[in-house]
Amino acid sequence: MTVSDVRKCLFPVAGMGTRFLPATKEIPKEMLPLIDRPLIQYGVEEAVRSGCGEIVFVTGRGKRAIEDYFDRSIELEQILIEKGKADSARLVREISQMADFAYVRQPEPLGLGHAVLCGEPFCRGCYFGVILPDDVMVTPPGTPPVLGQLVQVHQRLGGSVVALEEVPPEETFRYGIIRGKQVEDGVFRIEDLVEKPEPGSEPSRHAVMGRYVLSPGIFRHLRNSGFGAGGEIQLTDAIRSLAEDEPVWGVMYKGERFDCGTMESWLRATLGMALKREDLRGIVLSELERLGVTGR
Ligand code: G1P
Repeated sequence: MTVSDVRKCLFPVAGMGTRFLPATKEIPKEMLPLIDRPLIQYGVEEAVRSGCGEIVFVTGRGKRAIEDYFDRSIELEQILIEKGKADSARLVREISQMADFAYVRQPEPLGLGHAVLCGEPFCRGCYFGVILPDDVMVTPPGTPPVLGQLVQVHQRLGGSVVALEEVPPEETFRYGIIRGKQVEDGVFRIEDLVEKPEPGSEPSRHAVMGRYVLSPGIFRHLRNSGFGAGGEIQLTDAIRSLAEDEPVWGVMYKGERFDCGTMESWLRATLGMALKREDLRGIVLSELERLGVTGR
């Protein structure tokens, strides 16, 4: 296998998390726990397993807890060691050793495209990954992580790559939707891309999910992008114009997506992930039984 040139992964995490208030009044939504670790850690683990040793967070006000989390906590490690909890000390230390972490601020909430543009100083001149951490991706044993699947297509075909999933017609308005030509099983060459199309006007049911491998050429297109859907600088619009210059592929990824973007979907993700874990499945099922839950 060739050594990947996708070494950096950018995480837009400047959003205010208003859909989780009051829980997110003082803590970033990315720090809400999903089972045993904060949401953001799933995305970082996926990036690292995909070959990205450099993680760039595009943060905003009130996101310091993310920096502290991925920093070393010598005091905590010391206390744990003194208490004879060497395993916990190692667990804590390993979080800071997962990758090299860098932080850049997005001063204004001008959209996902703007957030990616804020990361340009760290990603200039190289292909880089983007992970939207609200979508937690779980892949079966033996299958590469979703970002890794995109990296493999990039290594094979060159160019930029986005993750795709087929969604029902009534959900297309939530996503970036592609029009493309299938070039091989599960791989499309993207010809057009529309952010949150009006119901009925969607070019297909293939929706872009929160994983991207992007060419550094994207920055020029982001700079030239105006304000798009929702009055924001949209990554989708820049990718559409990038696709006129360079190949952009869409890949139907293999894996399961847990949307953690709203309280309802986060609850579903928590339950879904607990049911997938051997050590937790029995607890969920016996608790439902104890409560007499048999259906609606
Ligand atoms: C963003 C992107 C959209 C993509 C979606 C995936 O939208 O703009 O193209 O389909 O993420 O989750 P958002 O969820 O920020 O509205």
